[in-house]
Amino acid sequence: MSAAPAATPAAGPAVQPPRFDAPAYRDAYSRINGLVIVGEGMADRHFRRLAELLPDQRDELLRLGAMEARHARDFVGCGRQLRVRPDSPLARRLLDPLHRQFREADQQGDLVSCLVIQCLIIECFAVAAYRLYLPVADAYARPITEAVIADEAEHLNFGEQWLRPRFQAVAAQVEACAARSLPAALAMLTALDADLRTIGIDPQELVAEFVVEFQASLQAIGYGEPAARQLVTRLTARALSRGATLS
Ligand SMILES: [Fe+2]
Ligand SMILES: [Fe+2]
Repeated sequence: MSAAPAATPAAGPAVQPPRFDAPAYRDAYSRINGLVIVGEGMADRHFRRLAELLPDQRDELLRLGAMEARHARDFVGCGRQLRVRPDSPLARRLLDPLHRQFREADQQGDLVSCLVIQCLIIECFAVAAYRLYLPVADAYARPITEAVIADEAEHLNFGEQWLRPRFQAVAAQVEACAARSLPAALAMLTALDADLRTIGIDPQELVAEFVVEFQASLQAIGYGEPAARQLVTRLTARALSRGATLS
């Protein structure tokens, strides 16, 4: 008697794991790895600046910054493991709009926007991206990525805890800042659309994951569920329709 055939997926071929030694994979990884390393370094600098702006929480913020510096070093190791040279100049160009927004907010004494940019937008983006990378990561990068995801959740939590008791006073600034920073974050995705696909991440799924994370953050700081959903949906749709379109 023959065994019953195994159930097969209804649509499309099974997703193949990436071939980490393929030239196309390593080429795409050089740009993704560059963005990750430069982004982690930028997060370190942002937390060290926040430590100056919030002297009461200086030690905690320096600790979070040190975690980001460690992430950067760990991801340098991931690139080295694959014998990939990270494309840092491209990464700096892609991250510059968000970094500039952080610096401008700082110069204007707008601490709320500094926290929204680093602790909500960038951290939600990082959590979403690393979470989708985890199942397609190579064996060396996987445990590193898993540990980093837990750390980024802690960074997100710092911003939420600071903003939550001040919700009424900061809500308008949060919305104005998110309206400026969300397009800058999504534009990075558009620029790396093909590379994300090559390493096994669906850019549209990444946007969806970011939307889920960012909505949860808004709810954590005091928005009701419908208001948070409407705000994220409106800002994301507007950002994507203004040029950050995904193929
Ligand atoms: Fe990080
Ligand atoms: Fe972080």
